[in-house]
Amino acid sequence: MRILAIETSCDDTSVSIVRDGQWVESLVVSSQIKAHQRFGGVVPELAARMHTETVHYLLPKCLAEAGRTWSEIDAIAVTTNPGLEGSLIIGVTVAKTLAMTLNKPIIPVNHITGHICSIFLDNPKPIVFPLVALVVSGGHTQLWTGNTIQTVKLLSETRDDAAGEAFDKVARLLGLPYPGGPTIESRAKLGQPTRFKLPEPLRHSPLEFSFSGLKTAVANCIQQQSPLTESDINDICAAFQQTVISTLLRKVTVAVNHSQAATVAIVGGVAANRTLLHNATEIFSSINVMAPPIKYCTDNAAMIAAAAHFCGSQVPLNTIRVGCAC
Ligand code: KG4
Ligand code: ZN
Repeated sequence: MRILAIETSCDDTSVSIVRDGQWVESLVVSSQIKAHQRFGGVVPELAARMHTETVHYLLPKCLAEAGRTWSEIDAIAVTTNPGLEGSLIIGVTVAKTLAMTLNKPIIPVNHITGHICSIFLDNPKPIVFPLVALVVSGGHTQLWTGNTIQTVKLLSETRDDAAGEAFDKVARLLGLPYPGGPTIESRAKLGQPTRFKLPEPLRHSPLEFSFSGLKTAVANCIQQQSPLTESDINDICAAFQQTVISTLLRKVTVAVNHSQAATVAIVGGVAANRTLLHNATEIFSSINVMAPPIKYCTDNAAMIAAAAHFCGSQVPLNTIRVGCAC
């Protein structure tokens, strides 16, 4: 089964062709980061407009890179929710048009299911269940658990900001570029994590997350320390990153014990943070700990094709719309 998937839920336009939910024949991503950078975050209207300007040339590029023709594509998959409404509409409209004109089945996909299914991409090793999946992105911080990929259930999530959102907001407070995660991770490597004391949010709540208070604590710390030197910035990044990581892994530990997990998967944009993965590997030394390669952590269409293959089902064309349950 060869699926062509389209992902336009936020600020990355992406098209991918994946065989059997696992083997990526091509993945093209057009990032809008530069366009949104001067605003310090994603501007929804700009994102939607840029998807329309990009998606039509990514489609032939994706087919060419895979060395495939339309006749070799068995189904079209598309992200239908969650995401920015205006951005999702572009991907859904393109996918419906392709499915209708080429007479192909269409499979709607939930973006979070996509992040979870990114664990299968280019991964020859079988995933051992039960699984605990930590989904950490710019929009979501959630724990999922299940005995099969088709039956994973939401265990907990954040009360307020997502972990990635906290990285982005703290970067902005420190005058660092958007997206904040990669810059904070590299500045943290130069800093001293114990110089500034930051509170671990919702420490006594076993599974629930919260990150808005941590962002406020960083804002107060910056105010007290101002004007900041480069080494102050490095130390704040190190303290912030360490606090986020220990908060995340404290809840993952509860989830692992609760579900007697054999595998912990860290997925979503923040899973690109290799310090998080390294610390998780140390804590959960007796079970499998994995994160996909970085290109499959941040938003991409390959994970949407994987989710369509493992968890999706074909639906009538007239039932597909933004936000449809899948
Ligand atoms: O999954 P993703 O590409 O988009 C959403 O679905 O939100 O995640 C983007 C988020 C951003 O908030 C970005 O700052 C964060 O992932 N991120 C990181 C790193 N790379 C990206 N956070 C921490 N460390 C990183 N290395
Ligand atoms: Zn995402």
